[in-house]
Amino acid sequence: MAFMERLNDIFSALPAHPCPSTLKDALERLAPTTAEVLPYATAPEGHPYGRRILYCSATVEVMLMHWSPTQACAPHDHGDSLGWIYIVNGQSQHTLFTSEPGILPKILKVKVEDTGDYLFAPRKKVHQMASASKNAPLLTLHVYAPPIKNMKVYDLKKCAVCTVAAECGAWWPEEQRQKLAEIKLEP
Ligand SMILES: [Fe+2]
Repeated sequence: MAFMERLNDIFSALPAHPCPSTLKDALERLAPTTAEVLPYATAPEGHPYGRRILYCSATVEVMLMHWSPTQACAPHDHGDSLGWIYIVNGQSQHTLFTSEPGILPKILKVKVEDTGDYLFAPRKKVHQMASASKNAPLLTLHVYAPPIKNMKVYDLKKCAVCTVAAECGAWWPEEQRQKLAEIKLEP
């Protein structure tokens, strides 16, 4: 079955509030190849990644990210959503942060994830990703339940956090309308 047809079949069959293992199982059943996702990869064009929404319902959204070889995303959470990330191609440097309300996140751990790895993104946890591959482009497939709303993006230099609009990726918004709320943090 073609990739998009498989994706639609798998994700439209999910229960309204999938638990982490149900969501991972759906992603494992899809586990696309690089050749299958490449036609949907969107160039980063000056951002940390290009994002392409492949599926979105009230239950779940599925997004393909095509990473810049040089630019990391900003540390961020995923609002009230939980998610899984599948490394389709390349290697990812994955940084996990502390997540305390009102306080600047601090680095807890830095890991390198390989092609074929699955990363869990729990609710409210702050993380950051970047391409760690010199030769292979990083392509990652993300599933979030429910679709992300009110993602928080952190600027560690400004010591600030911004809740961003749904169309903004994990970077400090360039346009005022993408900034839903901005607050200063304690260092
Ligand atoms: Fe993320």
